Amino acid sequence: MGYTVAIVGATGAVGQQMLAVLEERDLPIDRLVPLASLRSAGQTITFRGEEITITELTEASFEGVDVALFSAGGSVSETFGPVAASAGAMVIDNTSAFRMANDVPLVVPEVNGEAALDAPRRIIANPNCSTIQMVVALAPLHREARVKRVVVSTYQAVAGAGARAIKELTEQAVAWANGSPEPPPEIFPHPMLFECLPQIGEFLPDGTSVEEEKMVEETKKIFADETIAVTATTVRVPVLVGHGEALNVEFEGPLSAERAKELLSTAPGVELVDEPEKNRYPLARQAAGKDPVYVGRVRNDATLPHGLNLWVVADNLRKGAALNAVQIAEFLHARDAL
Ligand SMILES: NC(=O)c1ccc[n+]([C@@H]2O[C@H](COP(=O)([O-])OP(=O)(O)OC[C@H]3O[C@@H](n4cnc5c(N)ncnc54)[C@H](OP(=O)(O)O)[C@@H]3O)[C@@H](O)[C@H]2O)c1
Repeated sequence: MGYTVAIVGATGAVGQQMLAVLEERDLPIDRLVPLASLRSAGQTITFRGEEITITELTEASFEGVDVALFSAGGSVSETFGPVAASAGAMVIDNTSAFRMANDVPLVVPEVNGEAALDAPRRIIANPNCSTIQMVVALAPLHREARVKRVVVSTYQAVAGAGARAIKELTEQAVAWANGSPEPPPEIFPHPMLFECLPQIGEFLPDGTSVEEEKMVEETKKIFADETIAVTATTVRVPVLVGHGEALNVEFEGPLSAERAKELLSTAPGVELVDEPEKNRYPLARQAAGKDPVYVGRVRNDATLPHGLNLWVVADNLRKGAALNAVQIAEFLHARDAL
């Protein structure tokens, strides 16, 4: 017997990856319910060889649904997440709507999977894409030497801002190649082509961006440790898919680069790519479409008593969103908790 799985935002950049990930993996599914706004209702998607019509998201959409994967924006989740949960579905939400709520677990299965078993509202939150790949890389090192402070600088792909953002950068590139006038940006505040934008999300009164704040707060919640200090600078770069992150990590105890590589080479969800002498290190174009969090450039930071530098890359639409959500569902399925 399989589940009825709803995908809210099935036409989006994340929703499309959810379909792909569910198709590849083994979660038993009897019925798939692709949902979107009225704009896309009536279009079809193909899932496991079957053509399925997308329907408009309404309060009645969740009848008989066991698992509802949400990725249609925060306000949609705020309104319809509780509706789906009261209809009996387990909601796994990709937006920031519930991430910091005390009664909603924030889960990365490789790091704190057990937290998913305590979801009193039947809502589980998927962390922000930049947080997920950082904590997957940090977890094995944290277990060994305890992370004290992380300085993270991100190099985030435009796919993080959705399907229209990918189109926007692509159109700017095509216009540039053709010598045509640059189409004005609609998704980002400036053209992304040949640019690095030190702004992801709104700015808070102290000058921090919302994306930076998410990395700080979500990391503490996932590791269940308020003392971990994170300071972030999040930057959008003209990469289509795959976020990069430079991490400078200070540990409580000693941890050599060699030992860190050893730990990372067997850590769940991590693939160590660290042969700089052969020009091999994690790259966004190689990570796109793949599941692992790639870690490389592991080296000691001689300016700290116990410090390491790492370079971490993952597909933000997969491990950063769709794959992590599906892994949460699989984790619950394996424990009869769906
Ligand atoms: N992109 C990432 O890397 C990433 C990572 C983690 C989390 N997220 C979060 O996931 C969410 C979706 O991101 P995305 O990148 O997939 O965006 P996207 O490509 O813009 O897709 C948005 C999806 O939401 C649907 N939608 C919008 N308004 C709706 C409404 N009122 N009712 C029903 N469906 C509606 C759209 O359907 P239509 O076709 O009908 O417009 C589309 O399927 C966002 O909250 C984002 O923050 C994204």
